[in-house]
Amino acid sequence: MKNVGVIGGGTMGAGIAEVVARAGSTVRVLERAEAVDAARERIAKSLARAVKAGKLAEDESTATLDRITVTTDLESFADCELVVEAMPEIESLKLEYFHKLDDIVSKDAILATNTSSIPVIRLANATRHPERVLGMHFFNPVPVMALVEIVTTLKVDPAVVTKVADFARDGLGKRTIESKDQSGFIVNALLVPYLTNAIRMYESGFASAEDIDEGMVSGCGHPMGPLRLSDTVGLDICLAVAESLYAEFGQAHYAPPVLLRRMVDAGYLGRKTGRGFYDYSK
Ligand SMILES: NC(=O)c1ccc[n+]([C@@H]2O[C@H](COP(=O)([O-])OP(=O)(O)OC[C@H]3O[C@@H](n4cnc5c(N)ncnc54)[C@H](O)[C@@H]3O)[C@@H](O)[C@H]2O)c1
Repeated sequence: MKNVGVIGGGTMGAGIAEVVARAGSTVRVLERAEAVDAARERIAKSLARAVKAGKLAEDESTATLDRITVTTDLESFADCELVVEAMPEIESLKLEYFHKLDDIVSKDAILATNTSSIPVIRLANATRHPERVLGMHFFNPVPVMALVEIVTTLKVDPAVVTKVADFARDGLGKRTIESKDQSGFIVNALLVPYLTNAIRMYESGFASAEDIDEGMVSGCGHPMGPLRLSDTVGLDICLAVAESLYAEFGQAHYAPPVLLRRMVDAGYLGRKTGRGFYDYSK
């Protein structure tokens, strides 16, 4: 893939742009005018961290940054062979951009979404060529996490799936797994009920947050306990995925715990707001 587009240069979009540019592709990132500088800075900072950690040579970092253009001009995506959408998780916004992209890129270009919870087929159906639309679900932080979930829809062309999986593996150096277009895909469908069960356990007063986390770290070898992991993912994200799983499958064990809802209402979203199950303010 010589020319790749990324829509949205936030947490995920910046990371996706970085790994794609590190693989040698020219990358265009679409951002809102007021967020262009922040997106570029996000990418530059992440590259600087990789250099500091000895994972990337200084000249490679410079060359990677040179391959990335952050722009407000969607028309400049016309020659992209692949576009990965990583806008906020708002269906109407994503639909609008899939519709626009369909008029801009060539009919052979592949359109991917990084959505965590919106059915990919709905975004595919906003285009005239739904067979070239699929999910490419990266994990945060993108340059560090090895996995990409490739999400197939009822309409996607199997050749498109193969092409994207090959690119993720051979081009980006990621591992891939293939999931059907169902809420949570594979990873979040397993992970989020585990996290919400831990929250329910804490909510009921059964055990302290520290003991629940210590149990899974020292007893099961997990790198992080479920409550600290929820704080790291973001409690708003955990709630959104739990709601999506519950809406999709209607089974009680997917329902978000009341405590999770109230913490999100309170603005206690975890690490990013300085408070979740733990205090990060210091
Ligand atoms: N954060 C995660 O851990 C994670 C993991 C996997 C998937 N996702 C999914 O990735 C997507 C992006 O999530 P994120 O955490 O990067 O969000 P984010 O809020 O950090 O980034 C979204 C970016 O889109 C930009 N944007 C908004 N409107 C725009 C417009 N009209 N044109 C161009 N850019 C626009 C914003 O300025 C922002 O930089 C979501 O679909 C989310 O569900 C997130």
